[in-house]
This record gives sequence, C-alpha cells and structure tokens, in this order.
Amino acid sequence: MNEVRVNGKRLWERIEELGRIGAVLGPNGERGCARLALTDEDRQGRDLVVSWMTDLGLDVSIDGIGNVVAAMTGRDPSAAPVMVGSHIDTVRTGGRFDGNLGVLGGLEVIETLLALPADLRPRRGVSVAFFTDEEGARFAPDMLGSLVYVGAMSVEDALDVLDADGVRLGDELNAIGYAGSMPCPAADAPHAYVELHVEQGPVLEDSGVTIGVVTGVQGISWTELTITGQSAHAGTTPMRLRHDPGYVAAAINVGVRELASEIGGSQVATVGRCEFRPNLVNVVPSTVTMTVDLRNTDEDQLRRAEAGFAALCNDLAASEGVTIERRTLARFEPVSFDDQTVDLVESTAQRLGFSTLRMPSGAGHDAQMLARICPTAMVFVPSVNGLSHNIAEYTSPGDVTAGADVLLNVVLALANQP
Ligand code: GLV
Ligand code: MN
Ligand code: MN
Repeated sequence: MNEVRVNGKRLWERIEELGRIGAVLGPNGERGCARLALTDEDRQGRDLVVSWMTDLGLDVSIDGIGNVVAAMTGRDPSAAPVMVGSHIDTVRTGGRFDGNLGVLGGLEVIETLLALPADLRPRRGVSVAFFTDEEGARFAPDMLGSLVYVGAMSVEDALDVLDADGVRLGDELNAIGYAGSMPCPAADAPHAYVELHVEQGPVLEDSGVTIGVVTGVQGISWTELTITGQSAHAGTTPMRLRHDPGYVAAAINVGVRELASEIGGSQVATVGRCEFRPNLVNVVPSTVTMTVDLRNTDEDQLRRAEAGFAALCNDLAASEGVTIERRTLARFEPVSFDDQTVDLVESTAQRLGFSTLRMPSGAGHDAQMLARICPTAMVFVPSVNGLSHNIAEYTSPGDVTAGADVLLNVVLALANQP
C-alpha cells in the first residue's frame, strides 16, 4: 500500500511563517492572527502563499472573486484533478491554524507528491486552493469565495457586498491586486475535494482521538437586526414610557439562548455583535444593531429555531414599542459529505495507525460549498482546549503532521482512481 508521509517540519515552519503576518500577541504568550478578508494583511498572506506555490512550479490561477488555485499536473493531463484547500483569511481575533492548515497542508501534500519517483506520481493532477472570505467576519455571507466558485452566487453580487463600514468587496479586491482573470464559477468540477482543518471544538481532545472523520456540516442561519426605538434622557424617562432597543437586544440575547436549550440536540445560538447608538451612559439608545447566529445539523430543527427567533422579535417589538428590521446575512442548509470519500478518510487514517471518530462539523467550511459540485470530505485534527476564533487556538505539531499524512494518502488514492 502507499505509505508516503509528509515533511511535518516543513509544514510547521510554513504555518509559523504565515502566522507572522497579521500576528496578534496575547498577554500570556498566545500568538493569534488578524487577517480579515481583503485587508492589507490578507494581501501579504496571499502573496506569501502564492510565492510558495510558484516556487514549486505550480500553475497558479486567480479568478474574478480572488480565489487562488495552484495546480500540479498528473500522469493523465486530461483527467479531472483532485482538489484540496481551505482559506487564509481569519476573524479579527483568529488563530494561525483555522483554514491555514488546509491550504498549507495541501501545499505540503503537493510538494511530497512532486518528490515521488515518476512511476509513483498519481494519474490525476492535484490542485490546492485558497478561497476568498471564508470567514464572513467582514463580508457576509461566510464561504463567499467558494460559493461563487461553485456557481451558487454570481460574481457580480459577490463583488457588490458591503462590509459594516459600507466598503465594497470588489473595490477592496482590486485594491489588494487579487481580482483575477479566471472565470468563475469554475469551468470544470474537480474529481473530488478534501479539506484538512482543525476541529475548532473540544470533541476530539475530549475523546482522546487524533483524526476526526467529518460526515457533514451543520446548517447555518445568520441574521442582522436593526432595532429602532426612542432615544431619551436616562434620568427623566420613566421605565413604563420607554421604547428601549437596548432592553430588546438584551431580551433577544437571553431569548435565543433559552430557545437553543429548549430545542436541545445540536442547536446553538450566538449573539456575536451588538452595537448601541449613541452608546452613552445617560442616553436611552436610539438604535441597536446586532447579529444572531443559529446552527443545527437538522434542517427541520434549524427552521424551528428560526421560527422561534422570529416570534421572539415580533413579541418584543410589540411589547416595547420598537421596530425590528431583520436582514439575512447567510443561510445554508446542513450538508452531508460523500459516503465513499468519508469511508476513504476513515480507512486511510486507520491504516496509518490513527484513532478516528466520525463527527459532524460545527463550523462552516469551503468544503460544504464544494460538496455541491463533486464528492467531498474533510479531515479534522484536535484543537487544544477546543478553542478557535480565539488567538489561543493551537494544534500540536504531531497532530498537524498526522492530519497532513491522512490528507496525503487520501489524495493519492483519489488521484489514482480511474
Ligand atoms: C466560519 O468559520 C464559521 O463557521 O463561522
Ligand atoms: Mn476555517
Ligand atoms: Mn473560522
């Protein structure tokens, strides 16, 4: 059997080097990353990864939404390639592993394959991609680049997305020099797509397991609320006469948490952003803008959560005398990955001697978009203390190498398929 292995030291050094761009240092020595999509830090990160792709002699192409794909040819140039990849943008308080591992692990897979004797080189080519704005922390929806790549959002609509300050995505893409000429959606689907990623939660560590075999991704529903009431003097306005959007925001935060407990199972609910205006100690606010993130592995249960959330908003608007405007930022149904590719990840990891656990992904991933056009699967490795979207995010060098070894051998098997 193929028992090739990656160079874990080389991969770790690239993670370290990319992690220095947009580095954020914590008070206890934590080393995180702030590379929001299409900022100058994102550009620097892109330039570094593209230089590594070019150094390997790969054919690098950039499409109209800034997705970057680097391709290694196989023995049969007419066969559709196997694609690996992820993203290199981060949230503002992000880590060095989220997304970056999938891209640099993919690059490591290709560098390892390029070093194989010619007769062991795979039949199909292998390409590694990084997709624009996976995080959605600046431009919603999340997974925007891969959504365009698979043809589920038009490039024109994506370029017109505005961030919270009204800055247009297309203008920022031009400013960093990554508005490419390759058409999107992509003309041809890959043979398969496999993404290596950190788990970003506590399950693998808690179970003492090295490799998560990802069965799918839960559904995501993001809403932005603008609550408008009556700004007034905090000292003179009796409680019974207030129309206070700050109170309504707090009640929504508590309400969605109660809703998640009531629905149970995988249901989660988060208020991650909340801005008061005018944000002064002695003024009942005039408006509050806030976001609500609801997720569930079951579409019916996610709809139940959305209905409960809508009813909560309507009741609070009526009882407090405020208006609540709801805007959908992202809505993706749960996705199941391809059974055969998932089985291949599991059997490969076990053959290499790693413990495995089948699990759904709690976080969103570019893989859930690629699953629309080709057989797709993911490989998870443990996140220390289950932390991610946090500068303390960490995965050990041993687990990074284990994940990349699994990715390599899965890719090799797929790339030798007829
Ligand atoms: C993307 O990282 C998400 O799951 O929010
Ligand atoms: Mn990610
Ligand atoms: Mn993320």
